Amino acid sequence: MFQRFRRTRLKGQLRSLVRETTLAKDDFIYPLFVRSGEGIKTEVSSMPGVFQMSVDEILKECVELKKLGLYSIILFGIPEVKDSIGSDSLCEHGIIATAIRAIKKEHPEMFVVTDLCFCEYTDHGHCGIIDEVNETVINDATLEISAEQAIIHAKAGADMIAPSGMMDGIIVTLREALDIAGYENLPIMAYSTKFASGYYGPFRDVAESTPSFGDRSSYQMDPANRREAINESIADEMQGADILMVKPALAYLDIVREIRDNTSLPLAVYNVSGEYAMLKAAGERELIDYDRVVMETMIGFKRAGADIIISYHAKEVAKMLEIV
Ligand code: PBG
Ligand code: ZN
Repeated sequence: MFQRFRRTRLKGQLRSLVRETTLAKDDFIYPLFVRSGEGIKTEVSSMPGVFQMSVDEILKECVELKKLGLYSIILFGIPEVKDSIGSDSLCEHGIIATAIRAIKKEHPEMFVVTDLCFCEYTDHGHCGIIDEVNETVINDATLEISAEQAIIHAKAGADMIAPSGMMDGIIVTLREALDIAGYENLPIMAYSTKFASGYYGPFRDVAESTPSFGDRSSYQMDPANRREAINESIADEMQGADILMVKPALAYLDIVREIRDNTSLPLAVYNVSGEYAMLKAAGERELIDYDRVVMETMIGFKRAGADIIISYHAKEVAKMLEIV
């Protein structure tokens, strides 16, 4: 006697009925890169389909996204001028604040998440204030200016703040600063478990945020550490994060599953630039059935335990979901 697993696979309708994991458009957050100027829409060579855009182009893009049924975006800013502390990100007239105000004015239905970090705004490309002797980022000084940046985002109308710099104590710092300023209902999505990863390469091209010296290993996590990965996310939960995140996604699905089983908070994965670039490159060379591999990858994230997928593939996925 053996079990006939194939019985439930014979007909499409039954395969649908027994399907354990599903994808929907509202699982996705789409990343957008904003820079100053007008009429600018520059494609990133390593990431076909991903652009740096000026605010007017971002507003057009939002029309496109709404047509596709995508209502959540995460914004990254590329400032005109960079300096040692990333002043543009601390200014109400900086690129990110300007973009948030414009988007919320013209597209109030769009849910605008902001990436809160300094690497795109600093001339050295690191994620905060630099300790030149030790070639690292000074944790507590960076917490202070992070709180300032959060208030800038909040005042401009951001719907959720997502700190990505991997500073210890960032969540409690931002929570307190937001609460004191009257933003107690503004949620925080923590980049709670973020690894020091080679997969961020193409992002640093588009965000122009490659460190001018060293790397991020003194603040982002060692890819080899599983227990620490869980602790990082649980610590952010205890500090008051509303949503946790694992980043990158593909090489870390064991971590996604383990965090899923250790928290009841919603969990996001960031399907990062290098992951996107790999599939794009393989698809363009016709080494894989691109659409199929994209969908299989997204289902993998959900099956591993992700509720939310931040992905450059979001528009393509939304189109594919319309066909099936
Ligand atoms: C900023 C930030 C990075 C990413 C998201 N926020 C880059 C980094 O840490 O170097 C990576 C996103 C991607 O690769 O798609 N700290
Ligand atoms: Zn950063």
